[in-house]
Amino acid sequence: MPAPDTDAFGPGFLWGVATSAYQIEGATAEDGRSPSIWDTFCRVPGAIDNGDDGDAACDHYRRWPEDVALMRGLGVDSYRFSLAWPRIVPGGTGPVNPAGLAFYDRLVDALLEAGIRPNATLYHWDLPQVLQDRGGWSERATAEAFAEYAGAAAAALGDRVTDWCTLNEPLCSAWIGHLEGRMAPGVRDLTTAVRASFHLHLGHGLAAQAVRAASPGPVRLGIVNNLSTCEPGSTDPADLAATVRADGHINRWWLDPVLGRGYPQDMLDVYRVELPDRGGDLATIAQPLDWMGVNYYFRQIIAADPTGPAPYFRQLPGPNPEHTAMGWEVHAAGLEELLLRLTREYGVRELMVTENGAAYHDTVAADGSVTDPGRTAYLEQHLAACARATAAGAPLTGYYAWSLLDNFEWAYGYDKRFGLVHVDYPTQRRTVKASGRRYAEIIHAHREAARRQARLSA
Ligand code: IFM
Repeated sequence: MPAPDTDAFGPGFLWGVATSAYQIEGATAEDGRSPSIWDTFCRVPGAIDNGDDGDAACDHYRRWPEDVALMRGLGVDSYRFSLAWPRIVPGGTGPVNPAGLAFYDRLVDALLEAGIRPNATLYHWDLPQVLQDRGGWSERATAEAFAEYAGAAAAALGDRVTDWCTLNEPLCSAWIGHLEGRMAPGVRDLTTAVRASFHLHLGHGLAAQAVRAASPGPVRLGIVNNLSTCEPGSTDPADLAATVRADGHINRWWLDPVLGRGYPQDMLDVYRVELPDRGGDLATIAQPLDWMGVNYYFRQIIAADPTGPAPYFRQLPGPNPEHTAMGWEVHAAGLEELLLRLTREYGVRELMVTENGAAYHDTVAADGSVTDPGRTAYLEQHLAACARATAAGAPLTGYYAWSLLDNFEWAYGYDKRFGLVHVDYPTQRRTVKASGRRYAEIIHAHREAARRQARLSA
């Protein structure tokens, strides 16, 4: 089958795969790591499907050489992973744990040796529990502690890591973790959620400064947001107004402050929670960004929900019959639309798709192979959407498939498999799925085309 047309991407395009620490590492009590809010949340009865937890996950903490070899086999240019704050600074603030840092030190060296560029995320939801015990993200001190940890990580790894991401999907930390309570720390309170969102942003700004100050090498710094296009479920004025609120809650609240526009006034009017701004914080939050990461999974079809909690909207099922195992509607055009909106409305100068992928119910054949046509089609459709956006002017420089491995999918446990590589959890055997082989082919075809083009123009 011919590869999707990726000519629009240009020769320097970064092909990557992404993971996060708690979802794959396991070894939660090893080498001085302290518990995170996810270790605690996993122990809450009923919080996680099947009572799963991240204690073993993919055992990446021990099997990382095999995982680096898998990436090399796929032919990726870059690996986006996260550093576990509770491994590096187990006390949340204060002394650095050399054993925890050493794990990432070895990983980064191995990646570079394999010709794979590391892209390190500083926070993918695993706050040290000790900081949660003091109020977590609802307190300013957590933002300050985050910057301290970020500086220590950059000082130690910045001679080899250039690409840094402060926060992954702060929306999930604030809204799902503190408003809906479906993720750690499992709080359900609007005031706490809004305060958490502000301190996450402040932490982003302070950490950006700390990374730039502490890194011995060059820094390319970004933030990663999960964004969705929002469409009204009907032409009823109430649904139209709800869609504006949904866009505010899901997209603008997360983009505007970091891009120097402050918080959207319409959403401040909806939440009616005073921001814990001490003056000057908005400028700290709006640090210059070298790139902006977009995680895209689905669009949102919106209806008004006047009796529901603020912000008074609900999501309707999408009309496309194709849905993933998460129940998420497949709608690749939403990714194209988002990339173009960030380009045209926000003027973002460099974009990367830092996560995109799908969970499907995979079956392992008698010969051990995994053929996953749903995930393969999802990948191809979304890459085609990226190519269309790029051809229309979006400054897209990379794409990271979520995820390298099947892994711990938070409150859904291990049943939801997003990997390009299948993990048999009892044996930890890894098997590249058909989607992984397809991704490798697409990368290879793009590279060959770029080489041909370079020869022609030489
Ligand atoms: O697994 C998550 C990841 O941790 C953050 N982005 C969405 C993925 C799929 O739900």
